[in-house]
Amino acid sequence: MVVQNLPNGLEARQGDRLLSIRALTDHILRIRESNSGSLPEDASWSVLPSVRTANISVVPEHDGFHTSQIRITVGPDLLITLTDMEGHLLQQDAEPIRWTGARFRVYKHKEPDDHFFGLGDKPGPLDRAGQSYVMWNTDSFGWQESTDPLYKSIPFFLEFRGGRALGVLFDNTWRAFFDFGHELPNEYSFGAPDGPVDYYLMYGPDPKEVEKDYAWLTGPTPLPPLWALGFQQSRYSYETEGKLLDVAKRLRADRIPADALYLDIDYQRKYRPFTVDEVAFPLFSEMVKKLSGDHFHLVLITDLHIADLPGSNYAPYDSGITGDRFVKNPDGSTYVGPVWPGAAVFPEFTQEKSRAWWGTLYKQFAAEHVSGFWNDMNEPAVFTYPSKTMPDATQHRIDEPGFQKRTASHLEIHNVYGMENSRATYEGVLQLNPQERPFVLTRASYAGGQRYAATWTGDNSSTWNHLRETTPQLLNLGISGFALAGADVGGFAGSPPPDLLTKWLEVAAFQPIDRDHAAKGTRPHEPWVDGREHESIRQRFIEERYRLMPYLYTTVEETSRTGLPIVRPLFLEFPHATDDGHPMDLDASGEFMFGPDLLVAPNPSPEEIAPYEVHLPPGVWYDYWTGERFEHRSAIRGEDSEKREELLLRKRLMVTPTLSELPVYVRGGSVIPVAPQTENTDVAPNGPLTLRIYLNDTPENESHSSEICSGDVYQDDGHSFAFRAGDFLRLHFSCVANQDGSVTVIAGKRQGTYAPWWNGFRLEVHGWDHLVSANGNQTSHDSVIIQQVNDNPEGLQVVLR
Ligand code: GLC
Repeated sequence: MVVQNLPNGLEARQGDRLLSIRALTDHILRIRESNSGSLPEDASWSVLPSVRTANISVVPEHDGFHTSQIRITVGPDLLITLTDMEGHLLQQDAEPIRWTGARFRVYKHKEPDDHFFGLGDKPGPLDRAGQSYVMWNTDSFGWQESTDPLYKSIPFFLEFRGGRALGVLFDNTWRAFFDFGHELPNEYSFGAPDGPVDYYLMYGPDPKEVEKDYAWLTGPTPLPPLWALGFQQSRYSYETEGKLLDVAKRLRADRIPADALYLDIDYQRKYRPFTVDEVAFPLFSEMVKKLSGDHFHLVLITDLHIADLPGSNYAPYDSGITGDRFVKNPDGSTYVGPVWPGAAVFPEFTQEKSRAWWGTLYKQFAAEHVSGFWNDMNEPAVFTYPSKTMPDATQHRIDEPGFQKRTASHLEIHNVYGMENSRATYEGVLQLNPQERPFVLTRASYAGGQRYAATWTGDNSSTWNHLRETTPQLLNLGISGFALAGADVGGFAGSPPPDLLTKWLEVAAFQPIDRDHAAKGTRPHEPWVDGREHESIRQRFIEERYRLMPYLYTTVEETSRTGLPIVRPLFLEFPHATDDGHPMDLDASGEFMFGPDLLVAPNPSPEEIAPYEVHLPPGVWYDYWTGERFEHRSAIRGEDSEKREELLLRKRLMVTPTLSELPVYVRGGSVIPVAPQTENTDVAPNGPLTLRIYLNDTPENESHSSEICSGDVYQDDGHSFAFRAGDFLRLHFSCVANQDGSVTVIAGKRQGTYAPWWNGFRLEVHGWDHLVSANGNQTSHDSVIIQQVNDNPEGLQVVLR
């Protein structure tokens, strides 16, 4: 073995095997290996070109190198060992890469307490340990908990070992596979039938740092239009203009807040993409206008399969054939496969020019002010074959900056096809309307696809198990970069009983995308269909989502900068919260964080009304609905085990929510910005911004004033890119416990030029049990409400005594 040190890493050779390790930053490494003496083409659909060439200087060592944070060594057989600077083992090859022709597999040691998260929308438990998976985007109608693969291939996982997090992105688009101790309990492995050995290691140790690194490599979710965070109503299908307008009317008449309506494939003429059935939708333009006058944003499905209609004046087909835009069979003829419209042809999304052509197909809809587009069936789904997709040998002609111009088989392109479809849509729509943030919803994708589209979990079912499944699935999607994700609310396949639909609408109010959708032939799903009692519960939760919009939008803005997900597993916020300093809730009780400060604890057995335990991380917590404060739930250390058990038992928080209740808790020390109730996000709320302040305990032994709350609010116009030029508003709030027992609430100086909708602040201080001397205040046993505090751009202070 020969190791050659390089300024930014090393190269090692043994026979024909070549290993390259480069440091992109002091905690991100890129590892490539080949068995042919040279490395393959250096190109990626996933990792941004600007970061692939990033590098830092490393400190060479005898058999490896180190950065300021990690040390890597290469042993005989090119075996790699990664540690932190204190020598903690982070990752170690268990055996040399095994090659069988082009097929290879990378083996790593696995410890018994290793936990694995990510891999996109794959169902099953939150922790992937003990499971194995395949990456092959698949149209999986009616998938179940053990179905694999599903619609997306996101070859990224986050590993936890002894409280330290390490991210791995395996950038290989082929039919890759992952095994997390399924085959051998003390090894995990990943590999592919072809393509490069090319993976990135991101060292935390904090899992949030891994998430930020992953976003740095693949790009974060761009800031979506605000309306996309509102309630969305969909169905396969609202078949006529009248039906859609009736839904809109009913939502407004019943005052159920809503922002988006969807049209599924039946609005098209014979399911032909980019057409409108003029019999069912005779006044399409007027309908869109009418809806937007009523503050509804219309989202249209625009599937990628262009109907194969030579000589029929079908413009998408004609212009595509003229420009040679469709994928081909090995013999050079155009590949034709059956989907919704019957025989169809498939755009070459792996060509920059063809993507640009695809983008032009949106011209008419964009001119009609359709707000969003839904790219479905882009695995790509093709009917009749058992494989449910196009044949492996179908040819894709890559013609793309950063790539060699070459022809690739479908086996290589399959998993990125859907992502490049959504990219073509995103970029096309942006080009047509450069002032507005596009909204695209995609079903298939690959690592990095969050740059272009939100996603959903495809054709789930109307069962209690699928409701429960939404939590681990959306959490793992969030960990995998897809922060803007939802599951069909109420379930797609089958008809939800009323209680199930109600419970689903409750939880979905705290999920990133809140879209009610249903399959053809199922019973209606809209919030009102089960009578007034159910409707009013459902309405109350949707209303709560709208009140929380300033908090949600502030969280989403953070996502757009940092890549941190919107819904977060507890371990992301509390990586050291257990008694032994390990991450919180790796066993996945079904609890999740909605943004940084709200903990949602749905019943792990949602079908029953029965007591269950809520696990609150250490610290002060408040009941979101009542403001009730819970005792200090610090970890119990240093007691003998019997005493510990007893203490733990006394600290247990048992709940039994009824049909209309969902337990939600607020982290002590947070400031939750809340708006007056609205029915859509287009119309600005009227009144003050409420700051719900949840005081934390004053740290023990604190001899000077200390901060016992802090939080932010972010605002902008909600739809344009003006924020990039500074037209946004960011405000930081904090509370200081003074030594005389008073508390000062501070609003910092405004950042940015955006003028917010509110006319001042209303403070709701929880955890405050003193009398307050300011005028117009109400005090209850532990909270105080101060009705009006004027907003001052220069900042302000309110003292509670
Ligand atoms: C697919 C989609 C589903 C959609 C249907 C008809 O099954 O996953 O959401 O409603 O196709 O377009």
